[in-house]
Amino acid sequence: MSNALPAIEVKNLTISYGPVPALLDVTLKIDSGQLVGIIGPNGSGKSTLIKSLLGFVKADFGEVLLFGEDAEKAKGRVAYVPQRGSVDWDFPITVREVALMGRFGKQPWWKELSKEDYEKADHALEQVRMADFRDRQIGQLSGGQQQRVFMARAIAQGGDILLLDEPFAGVDAATEKAILDVLESTREMGRTLVVVHHDLATAAEYFDSLVLLKQRLFAYGTPEQVLHPELLSEVYEGKLRIFANLQSGKTQGGAG
Ligand SMILES: Nc1ncnc2c1ncn2[C@@H]1O[C@H](COP(=O)(O)OP(=O)(O)OP(=O)(O)O)[C@@H](O)[C@H]1O
Ligand SMILES: [Mg+2]
Repeated sequence: MSNALPAIEVKNLTISYGPVPALLDVTLKIDSGQLVGIIGPNGSGKSTLIKSLLGFVKADFGEVLLFGEDAEKAKGRVAYVPQRGSVDWDFPITVREVALMGRFGKQPWWKELSKEDYEKADHALEQVRMADFRDRQIGQLSGGQQQRVFMARAIAQGGDILLLDEPFAGVDAATEKAILDVLESTREMGRTLVVVHHDLATAAEYFDSLVLLKQRLFAYGTPEQVLHPELLSEVYEGKLRIFANLQSGKTQGGAG
């Protein structure tokens, strides 16, 4: 991969919604085929970084390149699973239709969805173990089930870059395992995954590398480099229980 363009390149990115920037001078590069976790406290700019990769928010300064191209141009290569609660599913649409939404935009609008589109959507629903619910209205699912359907939509879309904003939030252990399996098999297909994650205890186990964010980029590297007690103490202002574990050795599964 060393000769290839990085999947994601963020250069001196500053983004403000108001007087205080949500992101300040963030620079990082992510190679293809990486499974990268973004960590940081609430309000630290994690979702903003994801949205900047989608071209949803405008930079004050700096730029975002996907495979060397402007994020706007590379839009079709990116699939996205939004943070839970950011979408209101009150209108009547079935689980299968949501998964099929991942297939829109793959063809001219006047063409009907093909057999392949349906197969891709159904396969994605199987992967997240939601196939049995495919005729159910999306609004009639639990939050964790909705989360899995969103994942299916992104998988069905099949972009080169998959951005997930807290896919593990509020899901049970079995769902977490199912989602992790999907992330890993997606990486094995050579795709690049960027995942906002809150649980530092599992971060080392799940990700190839971690981005530690609080307005600025505090650290980016292997989990061993990033999950450093002093660094975490600074970023989380000492409000973390995991320190005890980190200081007494390793997080679970964090060795290596
Ligand atoms: N649309 C918006 N308008 C104004 N301010 C915003 C907007 N979106 C985010 N912000 C602010 O920007 C900062 C970063 O928000 P962001 O959503 O990126 O944080 P986050 O790291 O994803 O937090 P969380 O862990 O709570 O999801 C916060 O201070 C937030 O209040
Ligand atoms: Mg967020």
